[in-house]
Amino acid sequence: MLSLLQTPSTPLNRFSFSPKTLKSPKPQFSKTQVQSVLQWNRKPQLAGETPRVVVITSGKGGVGKTTTTANVGLSLARFGFSVVAIDADVGLRNLDLLLGLENRVNYTVVEVLNGDCRLDQALVRDKRWSNFELLCISKPRSKLPLGFGGKALVWVVDALKTREEGSPDFILIDCPAGIDAGFITAITPANEAVLVTTPDITSLRDADRVIGLLECDGIRDIKMMVNRVRTDMIRGEDMMSVLDIQEMLGLALLGVIPEDTEVIRSTNRGFPLVLNQPPTLAGLAFEQAAWRLVEQDSMKAVMVEEEPKKRGFFSFFGV
Ligand SMILES: Nc1ncnc2c1ncn2[C@@H]1O[C@H](COP(=O)(O)OP(=O)(O)O)[C@@H](O)[C@H]1O
Ligand SMILES: [Mg+2]
Repeated sequence: MLSLLQTPSTPLNRFSFSPKTLKSPKPQFSKTQVQSVLQWNRKPQLAGETPRVVVITSGKGGVGKTTTTANVGLSLARFGFSVVAIDADVGLRNLDLLLGLENRVNYTVVEVLNGDCRLDQALVRDKRWSNFELLCISKPRSKLPLGFGGKALVWVVDALKTREEGSPDFILIDCPAGIDAGFITAITPANEAVLVTTPDITSLRDADRVIGLLECDGIRDIKMMVNRVRTDMIRGEDMMSVLDIQEMLGLALLGVIPEDTEVIRSTNRGFPLVLNQPPTLAGLAFEQAAWRLVEQDSMKAVMVEEEPKKRGFFSFFGV
């Protein structure tokens, strides 16, 4: 299965983590481990200036932004990069739940801005990967202070850049649905965007609108992630193919994620899919997307009919 998913531009980075390693609260990046990883796999080459501030957005709700933020974020941490994931979905905060960190969020950005705590007190370290931290904007069901907007989030990002322990490599911003004030706030500090869409017309129409808004805001580096793809439905011509979507939106393709019941199971367990052993197809797809994000690479959507030699899951809608 692994070889089917492997593409020359994005070699699979199946780090040889044992379940024991995954459970350890602070992963040991010992020399021997890193060497063994590097011996068999290439470490992704970090392209662009750090911190890379990436907003994960969509327009339509429920398409997989938070799932993408959690899984891509943890993959980046597993590659060895330092990551801060900001949950900017104020109304429907749930990134903490997906990560299984809901009981550890004591302070949020609102308290930091009020002077009630320091920024580092609001940063919640992941239980499994200490180089992954979560930052929530506000407590669930609490209202944002009047005037909280893009400038406040820019201040937060600047404060993260100048932390004593050094600037993170990646700052991922989980954007709220819609295109109102919360969306504008979330995209303001970002330099690049990952647009998550599902292969349905409503999601695509919202995505198209969002592309226009992102470009207006000066974000030129926009890549798309097509989520919840079902090859059986594409074959039966009941679902748009990734190639159709790419033609409609005209964006570089960061990843294609299949519909996978494991995503829902992992959401409910607070244990992101990319940590699953053995890995699932969706988990591997998220990990490959993270790899491409690091290298500012993209994949090409192809139709199986056009390239009959390619077989397997990814050959159907992308390589
Ligand atoms: N690839 C997938 N396969 C199956 N279910 C998925 C997939 N991606 C997301 N989901 C489910 O869709 C729902 C919405 O996902 P979520 O990431 O919260 O979306 P958003 O943040 O865009 O609102 C969740 O219940 C999640 O488990
Ligand atoms: Mg969400």
